[in-house]
Amino acid sequence: MTAPLDDFALADEFALATESTPLLPVIRARIQAAGGRITFAEFMGLALGHPEHGYYSRPGLRWGREGDFETSPEVHPIFGYLWARQVLECWERLGRPAPFHLVEPGAGSGAFMASMLTWLRARAPECFAAVRAVTLDGHPNRLADQRDALAAHGFEAEHALTEDWLARPEPVTGVLISNEFFDALPAYLVERHGDGLLECYVTVEGDTPALVTGEPSTPALRATFNRLGLLPGEGARAEVSLIAPEMMRRLASRIARGYVLTIDYGYPARELYASWRTQGTLMAFRRHSPQPDPLAQPGLTDLTYHVDFTSLADAAGEGWQAAPLTSQSEALTVLGLAEAVQVASARSHEDVQRYTAERRAADTLIDPAGLGRIRVLAMAKDAPLEGLRCLQPLTVAFAGGRRNG
Ligand SMILES: C[S@@+](CC[C@H](N)C(=O)[O-])C[C@H]1O[C@@H](n2cnc3c(N)ncnc32)[C@H](O)[C@@H]1O
Repeated sequence: MTAPLDDFALADEFALATESTPLLPVIRARIQAAGGRITFAEFMGLALGHPEHGYYSRPGLRWGREGDFETSPEVHPIFGYLWARQVLECWERLGRPAPFHLVEPGAGSGAFMASMLTWLRARAPECFAAVRAVTLDGHPNRLADQRDALAAHGFEAEHALTEDWLARPEPVTGVLISNEFFDALPAYLVERHGDGLLECYVTVEGDTPALVTGEPSTPALRATFNRLGLLPGEGARAEVSLIAPEMMRRLASRIARGYVLTIDYGYPARELYASWRTQGTLMAFRRHSPQPDPLAQPGLTDLTYHVDFTSLADAAGEGWQAAPLTSQSEALTVLGLAEAVQVASARSHEDVQRYTAERRAADTLIDPAGLGRIRVLAMAKDAPLEGLRCLQPLTVAFAGGRRNG
């Protein structure tokens, strides 16, 4: 028998065993060149986005159960089918425009876009005919994965580097939808002491990266808290993403009319920076297990944190209206998950194993201790936001006895 030629995975194992990564010497050199320390945002940017060795740049990055974490689109395509219903409603609310841009920043394996397009092609052919699908990502390797995933389902889409798409002058009409994109953008780390903030930098102790505190590298960190009118609890560590709101501002500015649907781990600022949260929300993942040290094994470990939805919504800018956050479990339920499970249950006798898997996927997607607690921020510009299907209270959605579609 021939062993599968997965040499990139072997390289990961090798690096894990020796607790060193090809990126570590690069980061050490960068810290030395910067005079002994870099911001955590720069460290995270290199760990995830270094063009050769960054976690999200590497060839052969594995998603879902095979990888280091499982996102909702990887759990089951029903996730994309349900959001496609929302996309269809947005298209109708916009007056059925053609072309209708469906843009997904940080599109990962392409599974989310592929499942949304599958549903639209099968259930809403007129909308599907108007759709111009675009996936955006930070590295050509990811765009190639997305192109392959969509081609495998017979879809043609545009695949662009985010910066290239942002640089285009002409605004578009449509829906920009992302899942766990903003929580992958670099954040700064701060600590509150009295009325002031210190920043946590990455330095090298011996051969290993370590955190040190110092005066903030930019007044924008303090300005963020001044704008929010709060501070983290005394002595607490917290993440501040200056990059995510700026990304939101730039993405939203490319939409002339339409909706931005942001699905991510996060909280409104008051909850995110609540005084009891002393350690922030930064997490490192490898093989589905949280890692104790986010500085260890840069490039082999996913880094993530919970986003500040207040700042994201504020950043969208003029003309944008934001709805109060809803949770993934509520949104998927009102988009039709419960009905889909009922239909699956009615034909369960035909294939019990399949039904069990569908049931398990539905439970995973709305698990209040897991993916179900992801939040959804819905925003609209020059389009009606009130009553959007994903925002409806569960009682209204069910009292109306609505059918899917
Ligand atoms: C946590 S993954 C989520 C992937 C996918 N949305 C999903 O739900 O499975 C984050 C995604 O954002 C992408 N990403 C990270 N930084 C980016 C950037 N600066 N511009 C565009 N995409 C970026 C990564 O390559 C990856 O595809």
